[in-house]
Amino acid sequence: LKLGVLGSGSGSNMQAILDAIDDGSLQAEIVLVLSDNEDAYILERARKVGIAAEVIDCGGYAQRFPEASQLEVAQRLKQAGVEMVCLAGFMRLVKSPLLDAFPQRILNIHPSLLPAYPGLMAWKQAVDDGATESGCTVHYVDAGMDTGPIVLQAKVPVLGDDTADSLHARIQVEEHRIYPEAIRVVAGV
Ligand code: GRF
Repeated sequence: LKLGVLGSGSGSNMQAILDAIDDGSLQAEIVLVLSDNEDAYILERARKVGIAAEVIDCGGYAQRFPEASQLEVAQRLKQAGVEMVCLAGFMRLVKSPLLDAFPQRILNIHPSLLPAYPGLMAWKQAVDDGATESGCTVHYVDAGMDTGPIVLQAKVPVLGDDTADSLHARIQVEEHRIYPEAIRVVAGV
């Protein structure tokens, strides 16, 4: 199974996918990593292990993902033979044409129990809201924001003294466990 990963940040979820591939629990290969942020550590992580890692130009606007950039991304992924696309901390909203290029083949990981707390900094939303439980969700990507059909979820408690950062750290442990598992479930590998 050839995977393409899109990320804007540290890439710890991509690392978890790589680790699952390395220990034989996921029969897959990451063939291309793309980032809209040339300084993102995800690019360095990929290059360190010899995975092609490229920057995509999306223009300056925070979450906008221009159509031309999406076409370019779809083309690069196809050229690399990608069969499934994993969004891993990718901070832009995917729409058609990228969705149309990979129907039912784009997954995302989100740091809440969707449909609760979609959007940015979901862990902070949970703390600010006084939630006693949160978690993470792997879901299919559709044209909405964090709205596609759910593949897997994991719960974590929100503790009385949690800060946004401490909750995020607890959620990430579960993200790293369920993302490779969700890929396995969806791809049947
Ligand atoms: C994760 O918390 C993920 O749920 C969210 O962005 C963060 C990415 O972290 N979509 P990383 O880049 O995988 O470390």
